[in-house]
Amino acid sequence: MRRLIILVVVTLTSALELVSNVPLNSTTPGVYGFEVDYENNQFLLDGKPFRYVSGSFHYFRTPKVYWRDRLRKMRAAGLNAVSTYVEWSLHQPRPNVWRWSGEADIVEFLTIAQQEDLLVLLRPGPYICAERDLGGLPPWLMTLVPDIKMRTNDARYMEYVEAYFQQLLSRVQPLLRGNGGPIIMVQIENEYGSFPACDVKYREGLRDIIARYVENKALLYTTDGSGTNYLRCGVVAEAYATVDFGAAANITRSFGAMRKYQPSGPLVNSEYYTGWLTHWDEAFQRVSTAAFIRTLKAMLNLNASVNLYMMYGGTNFGFTAGANGGEDQYMPQITSYDYDAPLTEAGDPTDKYFALRDALEQYLPMPNLSLPTVAPKGNYGVVSLQPITRLFDSQARRLAAKVGVFKIPPTFEQLDLPTGIVLYETELPVGVKDPAVLTAAVADRALVYLDDYLVGTLSRTLKLKTLSLQNPYAKRIQILVESQGHLNFGNVVQDWKGLLSAKVDDKPLKNWNVSSFPLDNLQPVANFSITSFASGNQVNGPFILRGSFKVEGQPLDTYLNAVGWGKGVAYVNGHNIGRYWPKTGPQITLYVPGAWLKTGVNELIVIEYEYVPAGLKMIFQEVPNLGRSHMRVRDH
Ligand SMILES: *[C@@H]1O[C@H](CO)[C@@H](O)[C@H](O)[C@H]1NC(C)=O
Ligand SMILES: *[C@@H]1O[C@H](CO)[C@@H](O)[C@H](O)[C@H]1NC(C)=O
Ligand SMILES: *[C@@H]1O[C@H](CO)[C@@H](O)[C@H](O)[C@H]1NC(C)=O
Ligand SMILES: *[C@@H]1O[C@H](CO)[C@@H](O)[C@H](O)[C@H]1NC(C)=O
Ligand SMILES: *[C@@H]1O[C@H](CO)[C@@H](O)[C@H](O)[C@H]1NC(C)=O
Repeated sequence: MRRLIILVVVTLTSALELVSNVPLNSTTPGVYGFEVDYENNQFLLDGKPFRYVSGSFHYFRTPKVYWRDRLRKMRAAGLNAVSTYVEWSLHQPRPNVWRWSGEADIVEFLTIAQQEDLLVLLRPGPYICAERDLGGLPPWLMTLVPDIKMRTNDARYMEYVEAYFQQLLSRVQPLLRGNGGPIIMVQIENEYGSFPACDVKYREGLRDIIARYVENKALLYTTDGSGTNYLRCGVVAEAYATVDFGAAANITRSFGAMRKYQPSGPLVNSEYYTGWLTHWDEAFQRVSTAAFIRTLKAMLNLNASVNLYMMYGGTNFGFTAGANGGEDQYMPQITSYDYDAPLTEAGDPTDKYFALRDALEQYLPMPNLSLPTVAPKGNYGVVSLQPITRLFDSQARRLAAKVGVFKIPPTFEQLDLPTGIVLYETELPVGVKDPAVLTAAVADRALVYLDDYLVGTLSRTLKLKTLSLQNPYAKRIQILVESQGHLNFGNVVQDWKGLLSAKVDDKPLKNWNVSSFPLDNLQPVANFSITSFASGNQVNGPFILRGSFKVEGQPLDTYLNAVGWGKGVAYVNGHNIGRYWPKTGPQITLYVPGAWLKTGVNELIVIEYEYVPAGLKMIFQEVPNLGRSHMRVRDH
């Protein structure tokens, strides 16, 4: 099948070359187009030999007002393309709600890319991994169809996929290369060979849907780990097979795996890792610049096309960070997606950036663009926070989206809650032992209270499922469960959140009062009156605190230092800037885009689950602190 395609392309190309007096206009194939010249192991852009060095930048990880700045900096480094995932859950947050404007204006992003002289590699999913919650799949799929088989040919899943692709691809269609736009390649699924389902009908079904919109106006491709065991279940007939690997890989072996499935055509590394992702409770992961440049040059010397993952990482604002793991492992990712990339989380150039530009100069024509400099940052100083309410206060119940009584504790998904926290409350059964033992499975982390008093923590990551209850005389037990992000990679897709089972001694706990907190709109706290408060360990439940700080002149990017605080979420002027957890780390500061600040008085609201240090202060500082680091790939 693949052979047949090769012949067709080559024949077409030579036919066009021969008949050079054919009148060409913008809709004639051959003027604009992107294809594979299998005979010469190269790509053809508008009929001419072409190699790309692109960089990954996900528009959903930075405010829209920064898109052009970041893209221009990528071009200035010498890159000639940008690669982005498209996040389904952003564009369809609810089954009947579509978002394509404002921060979700993907067409605008692609248009700016073209204006900034960058071609585009589009990775529309539907599953994208990307270290995002549920790998970009909308959690409401699990609400609507609890036994849905995501990432397979399940008709109930494919129906939603079709609707999403219809919405997305009809919008981006005019931007395909064949229509004069920047999109040269469109990826099918994402590293599907790493997923055990290995469903060929699914892969081909996706290809057929995408091909209906793309026609032949861009090249369809797949990306998989660089091993034949991955490629086996990842490749799709009629789509160009590519691989991904990092600086430590043996490129002969890695491209050798690609060649087993893609015997001719240009070599492609679709994710060449500039750095790496970081989980909570590990060191911040780095890749040495020397190793990164060395392997990059080795690939470019083979005439490979390469996409740098990430060129610019950005931030997992709000609750968008995902987690790695599976049946018995759970590792949530930090808020920062700096990734040790050439451009920092704030879009500043690093030594890696300049080393990259120096290397690319030897391979590609450089644009006439001035090189970026590090932008000034804001030092907005110390913010004193005022306690407003305990989450368990009746006034705070107004933040709850849903309150109800359930015999069996419902999952977040059954409550139609994509993320946030859920409070489960019930009576402690009579006649429990002394001490009684609570056994509960939670996803992902829970604070347990007896009669409103904290008695311990359960953790999926640490596999903590039991708790000795030294106060068996209590009347009520409350379990506050936090989602730390749906799995984005691994064998498990259906990652249910919440209190999954609970018993005390051998008695199952029943008849739960359940309150779900999406924590997406804190406006009601404006009216809350201060309740009694003590700093230190928040034994009576999470506290919401508020403070204000002044910005003089043009607002600048800044970093919120949460050192000394426990675990929580911070909001600046209503924008959820993400989770902080400095005790576990490595991340200590949260990136705050200047675009979300204003000249004058700004507001900081914090939901602190566990610990408020004496003084109740946080600091807006000029310097990020992502904590201790670990050099994954050293100079070699
Ligand atoms: C890289 O892989 C090739 C092919 O498997 C092998 O021949 C070569 O020795 C490897 N190089 C290194 C440095 O391990
Ligand atoms: C790379 O492309 C150039 C120009 O087409 C060619 O001369 C060279 O042999 C190619 N190198 C490799 C390793 O394929
Ligand atoms: C590069 O850009 C500068 C400023 O726009 C311009 O003055 C200069 O002529 C350009 N150089 C080239 C070689 O195009
Ligand atoms: C559950 O809610 C009802 C109605 O608000 C209340 O009377 C009851 O005390 C609650 N039970 C627990 C265990 O919180
Ligand atoms: C604050 O309280 C007032 C009066 O009760 C009410 O009209 C208003 O809607 C409330 N505002 C918010 C944000 O809850």
